[in-house]
Amino acid sequence: MNLDELLAAAQQELATLTQADQVEAFRIKFLGAKGLLKTASDQLKTLPNDQKRGYGSKLNTVKQAVQAAYDAAKASVGQKSGNRESLVDITEPGRLSFADYHPGSLHIIHQTIDALTDLFGRMGFSIAQGPELEDEFHNFEALNVPRQHPARDPLDNFYLQQPAGAAPFMLRSQTSSVQIRVLETSRPPVRIVAPGRVYRPDTVDATHSFMFHQIEGLVVDEHITMVDLKTCIDQFAKAFFGADVETRFRPSFFPFTEPSAEFDVRFHYADGSSKWVELGGCGMVDPNVLEMVHVDPEQYTGFAFGLGVERIAMRKHGIEDIRLLFENDVRFLKQF
Ligand code: FA5
Repeated sequence: MNLDELLAAAQQELATLTQADQVEAFRIKFLGAKGLLKTASDQLKTLPNDQKRGYGSKLNTVKQAVQAAYDAAKASVGQKSGNRESLVDITEPGRLSFADYHPGSLHIIHQTIDALTDLFGRMGFSIAQGPELEDEFHNFEALNVPRQHPARDPLDNFYLQQPAGAAPFMLRSQTSSVQIRVLETSRPPVRIVAPGRVYRPDTVDATHSFMFHQIEGLVVDEHITMVDLKTCIDQFAKAFFGADVETRFRPSFFPFTEPSAEFDVRFHYADGSSKWVELGGCGMVDPNVLEMVHVDPEQYTGFAFGLGVERIAMRKHGIEDIRLLFENDVRFLKQF
């Protein structure tokens, strides 16, 4: 192969290369220590003296042309995506800053439960829990809600389908069932809060969901009065929402407390309007309930409350629709 043929062959071959390993094979074949250009250089020694000068100068030109064409081919193949690995230095530090990362966070409902249990913990309450799948005794009977009471209507509760004759089970409709579970196993003085999920077939709107969370409170001791109840809830509201929060108590009725009240907080909306929204129910534990769990109502009295966690979170963070809490839209969730 003379030098012209060598150059033509090199150019033709380079034009077809697409992969890094092909470029490397080309280098070995033409530019390598035993490559075609080396062979061509070796021929120089064998030529008669009068041809050496012309051959040598042409050899140099061809060498430079092949080298330049090779360098260009190598750079262009390296940039093609199939060969990126050759350009990536995996030991380099990352270029993203911390602000670009979005590690997950606890859901705002769980953050609210944590904040509430933390606050009530500082007020001397410990945490209790009960099952979400409950029997009628703990959800109703022991809470002074007798069999014929309208609150037990199957249309207003999620009952489980059971074989005929089996004891009815339900998804608990209120965390008040935990009052009974606690008083069955511990004696006064009792001072607990019990956060958890509850279920009701309510029509969904801006302040109602069919599954939501409550936090129950129960205090049973000697000499507990309505003053303790009102002070406790007022202090909670001021500590949680701020000293300027507007609250009110309204007389109400619950079968398991007497007297009973409902507790409202004023919600402020983005359009400047405001309205009272019910946060929960409360009252003095009915003596019948204490008797059901063999606590002497002549010696002990108590108060209880049950607050809606979603409504607390909504009031705290200016969330105007409860459905936002359950849609799991990341644009909403990542604000908290
Ligand atoms: C009760 O559930 C009583 N167990 C509360 C109680 C406990 C009274 C201890 C006395 C002593 P009520 O049904 O009103 O009460 O619900 C309490 C709170 O749960 C409401 O004030 C509201 O904040 C919240 N809540 C009720 N229904 C829904 C719903 N469908 N969606 C979201 N939150 C709700």
